[in-house]
Amino acid sequence: MRFLYQVIWTNVLSLILFTSSYYKFDIKRHMGTNSLYPIFTDKQPEINSPHNCKLEKLLLLARHGTRYPEDGDIDNFEELDKVFHDVPGRKKYKWENKFSLSQNALLYFRGQKEHFLLGKRSFKKYHKFWKKILPYDPNIIEFRSTKVSSSYSIGLLDGHGILGKGDTQPIFIYTTSLSKDYELAIHRSCPLWKNTIDKNNQILEKQVSEFTSTNLTEIANHISKKYNVKNLLPIHTDYIYKACAFDIIFFNEYNSWCKLLRKNDILTLEYFSDMRNYYRFAYGNDLNKRLACRLVTKFVNDVDKYLNGTSTLKADLFFAHSETISFLYTFLGLYKDSKPLTANLTLDEVLDRKYKSSEICPFAANVYFEVYSCNENLSEGKEKSILIQAVVNEIPIIIPGCDGKYCEWGKFKELLGDNLNCDYEEICQFNKY
Ligand SMILES: *[C@@H]1O[C@H](CO)[C@@H](O)[C@H](O)[C@H]1NC(C)=O
Ligand SMILES: *[C@@H]1O[C@H](CO)[C@@H](O)[C@H](O)[C@H]1NC(C)=O
Ligand SMILES: *[C@@H]1O[C@H](CO)[C@@H](O)[C@H](O)[C@H]1NC(C)=O
Repeated sequence: MRFLYQVIWTNVLSLILFTSSYYKFDIKRHMGTNSLYPIFTDKQPEINSPHNCKLEKLLLLARHGTRYPEDGDIDNFEELDKVFHDVPGRKKYKWENKFSLSQNALLYFRGQKEHFLLGKRSFKKYHKFWKKILPYDPNIIEFRSTKVSSSYSIGLLDGHGILGKGDTQPIFIYTTSLSKDYELAIHRSCPLWKNTIDKNNQILEKQVSEFTSTNLTEIANHISKKYNVKNLLPIHTDYIYKACAFDIIFFNEYNSWCKLLRKNDILTLEYFSDMRNYYRFAYGNDLNKRLACRLVTKFVNDVDKYLNGTSTLKADLFFAHSETISFLYTFLGLYKDSKPLTANLTLDEVLDRKYKSSEICPFAANVYFEVYSCNENLSEGKEKSILIQAVVNEIPIIIPGCDGKYCEWGKFKELLGDNLNCDYEEICQFNKY
């Protein structure tokens, strides 16, 4: 009898293990740029610098944390709300618009916490570095941001000031009008981009219409039939996908809009969203490959000025948007697929694509550049060697063209070629538009 129980129990156990690994598909990690950042803790060990090296300078570009949907998305949810008005189960499954325009794009609680924790982790990770330069001094740490709020400084400086329960301190944030912010608001400040890529983008429109008439139509037909939805357009499936993303973030709700989508529908819609970003903010257009030149030039010149003693700035901490991060990746040659992301690829062909926003550009995505000076093999009269390492979403990566994770400063600058000190106004044809 006891033996029998054991056999049954072992079988039940293996069945549970089998099914749980089968269902390990994690929807919230497939929501494109509306995916949640995977790390949500203040725990962080201190890192070791490479042998005989010292961290001299830290550069950061971070996307804002989780926000409320933007007005365009809310308009789309309003449209879905109407389409689902008479659908059976509407009340039960809450197929309705859950957001109000008055809050559009505001930072959500989770978003406030994400940058706070990012700041706390930074303090722990680069402890020796920060300890020497805190308390905060705007000549040593530069905060810059577009029109987004960030709580990074509150996390970083927590306990280093005299104010409030957390002993924090005020900071100076440099910000400029969006149309003049060539470093951080690239998609708002480049006239050529706005007129040829954001608007009148024929390659993109062709891909979108092809994908809509095939893949999105198939998903829409399935939903219409199964849930008895009339007047569901193919493009509404994209709105459903977005509504699903915000259901997860705001309500931890997987059984409302998400319920309408099968696993493969989600993967297909995830691709659709990446495909559009690919033509708008990445390799899908040659212009996009140059647009982060002002941002990178600013970083490089700040490092050089520090190294030649004309600046005291040790940290550049910049806060902007997913578009800015995507332009930076594209500038550096990161996450470049060998084939262009077109509408006629099969799901199998795109599953392992490199340009996958869910992984590389979720809310609060970030890129650090660590700059080290090293004493190794220092012969008489020779200057210290300088190394740079890029860290994407807190994982070190190899910059394309470099031999390893720690890249020689001279080599890095060589890779940038004539994009260093670029003429943005000429690239963006300010005189024409
Ligand atoms: C220091 O570096 C900056 C940036 O490359 C450069 O513009 C400046 O002329 C340099 N100054 C000196 C004194 O070398
Ligand atoms: C897929 O589409 C691209 C761009 O529209 C085109 O160049 C390519 O030939 C197409 N491939 C196939 C197999 O149809
Ligand atoms: C698009 O639909 C075609 C035809 O059903 C399918 O073979 C392909 O895998 C789909 N592509 C994506 C990216 O889902």
